Amino acid sequence: MSSARVEKLLQSMTPAEKIGQLIQYFYFRLPERGDPSMVPPGQVEAVEAALAAGRAGSLLFVTDPATSNRLQRQAIAGNRHGIPVLFGFDVIHGLRTIFPVPIALAASWNPELIEQSQAVAAREARAVGIHWAFAPMLDIARDPRWGRIIEGAGEDPYLGSVVAAAQVRGFQGPHLGADEHIIAGPKHFAGYGAALGGRDYDEVDLSDQELWNTYLPPFKAAIDAGAGNVMSAYMDLNGVPATGNRWLLNDILREALGFEGFVVSDANSARDLAAHHYAADLTDAGARALNAGLDLEMAILDPAFEHLDEALENGQVDIERIDTSVRRLLSAKEALGLLDDPFVDEQAAQTVLNDPAHRETARKAAEESAVLLRNENDLLPLTGIGSVAVLGQMANSKRDTLGPWIFDYDLEETVTVLEGIRAHAAGLETPVEVTYAPGVPSPVRLFPSMFDMWGDGSKTDENFDSEAELSRAVEIATAADVAVVVVGERQDMIGETASRSTLDLPGEQLALLQAVVATGTPTVVVLMSGRPLDLRWAEANTPAILQVWYPGTRGGEAVANLLFGQAVPGGKLPFTWLRHVGQVPMHYAHTRSHDPSKQDRRYWDEESTPLYPFGFGLSYAKFAYSNLAVSSSSTPVDGVVTVSVDVTNTSGRDGNEVAQLYLHQRYGTASRPVRLLKGFRRLHLRAGQTERVEFAVTAEERRYWSAATRDWVLDATSFDVWVGGSSTADLHTEFTVTD
Ligand code: BGC
Repeated sequence: MSSARVEKLLQSMTPAEKIGQLIQYFYFRLPERGDPSMVPPGQVEAVEAALAAGRAGSLLFVTDPATSNRLQRQAIAGNRHGIPVLFGFDVIHGLRTIFPVPIALAASWNPELIEQSQAVAAREARAVGIHWAFAPMLDIARDPRWGRIIEGAGEDPYLGSVVAAAQVRGFQGPHLGADEHIIAGPKHFAGYGAALGGRDYDEVDLSDQELWNTYLPPFKAAIDAGAGNVMSAYMDLNGVPATGNRWLLNDILREALGFEGFVVSDANSARDLAAHHYAADLTDAGARALNAGLDLEMAILDPAFEHLDEALENGQVDIERIDTSVRRLLSAKEALGLLDDPFVDEQAAQTVLNDPAHRETARKAAEESAVLLRNENDLLPLTGIGSVAVLGQMANSKRDTLGPWIFDYDLEETVTVLEGIRAHAAGLETPVEVTYAPGVPSPVRLFPSMFDMWGDGSKTDENFDSEAELSRAVEIATAADVAVVVVGERQDMIGETASRSTLDLPGEQLALLQAVVATGTPTVVVLMSGRPLDLRWAEANTPAILQVWYPGTRGGEAVANLLFGQAVPGGKLPFTWLRHVGQVPMHYAHTRSHDPSKQDRRYWDEESTPLYPFGFGLSYAKFAYSNLAVSSSSTPVDGVVTVSVDVTNTSGRDGNEVAQLYLHQRYGTASRPVRLLKGFRRLHLRAGQTERVEFAVTAEERRYWSAATRDWVLDATSFDVWVGGSSTADLHTEFTVTD
């Protein structure tokens, strides 16, 4: 339903004016460090000409408030009705204040914190004139070779759904168009995370049961939370490109999931229907994308929707279909208040961008998302030491601390791990001496990243003296009480078009770690990555491993707080951490098979278990679970069972724990996964404190889509229930479901 104002506008528009509303252009203004040779010549001029001709309804990549106002004036002058443009942008994990990357936020298992983080991102974005985020990314990822695993919430549909809804609430606020908020655009619809071989953009084949049970739930959660936009995906889904897939964009998205907002293509994905050898030419591409359900085409240049006039003339599309899309776009502009006031306050924007409270939220998010993977003999937190040697290039790289998918960051105020440790150590009662050496050269990609046009790629340091640097690293590690080795993937080694064929530590970083460990100095591994890496050697040979992801603007400060015990790790893995790339794909929710006794021996040359299970993460505090109970041992199919458990902090220090509930259906219409996450709660427990936690298991938690009936089913059956601190929790109870 649209307003009378929108209907009136629509009625007074010509077909050409309507089509103009359905086109979104990149507006490329690269920063000084960028490489202009990678931008198509004349791009900016072409977009400004389109604005002047009323042939652009939306722009992306404008982050400067003055430019936003200038372009807005051009847009308004360029069409008879003075309709402003909608500015979209990749607000993925912050705008100026950079938060930990999305997979890290998911690892906090803290929906309130995630909502708060995206609300800060929205506030900064709105202040500079951005109306809409191309986020959250909701693609379930079970193959860590796929670089975009970093942009999502990992492998699990339940966690993914909770995180999706929290992000939508954070971006949009209490309602679409709320002050200091922006439209959320869940992406990429749908199934993009299942790219063959983990190779970005390659085709995806998903059965209906995988789509319904695993890949669609986060989108459903985002739509139920009111998301105003959805972005279509690039790849073929079951042989049909997602952006031209009517079944997907209409039958599933609109009819089954009830989405009422507007659908945008991915960058160039409508015009690329021709490159894909799906559409005959650009006219056919535009017509088929529109008829499939696309509303707005995102393009760098030469959009397929520029050919909709021709498609209309020759009958490939009809005006009612165009009206439907225009109505959706105008309604979004109206909801945001743009039809009344499309401009931003350029002065106020600076105050918002510099708000110190934003940086504090970012620090907290970095602390809460770190996952302690190993801590033998409680080496961490570091206490009573006189010196620490910090090693590794990544310890001292501001750009890597921030992670990929950011554009408007501020390096000056970014705190690296080394800087964080230095500042922290200097402030201690008995100051700790901090030394540093990079040890080995920075690894670089074999092929350049798509983000090199922003000048963000890692580069080879020609003057690096490998032999001398490694000796220096060994020397300072030997002299120190503790060594902190910071290793991982450079930020351009993960993200879009950053798939990998191995999961090794890139470059010579393992050699650095081995040389440091050989000195006999107790060694902490601080890992910066957005995917699981092969940590078998580190797990077997180092006492402590802390996964800090790419922790953002205040990352180094957060890491120092964690290492020295000012903050206590409480994050949990949002994916299964496998041992070796050969285990891909591996996720905890596999089915039982006819011979579960050999579950752990599927390979003869490596264990079939993960290195760290889904949901795993240690703390400096220790927790125990007891008194697991169900409200009733039997329930009707539509009934609710309440599961309750005591969680006790058995240690002498306060800490956070994520209590997790897993279910397993013993028999029924389909064979169901050995475990499925169906509830969780992040708790803060003081030393010695016990809290009783309750989870309601409703019919919704037991419902699933079955390939046997080709429909949703609710079986009368028995359920196993486990509650604990990871997917291997062993505290067990059960209940039955009756007809
Ligand atoms: C990505 C999207 C992104 C868009 C705009 C595409 O290459 O797949 O996730 O939102 O670019 O930057």
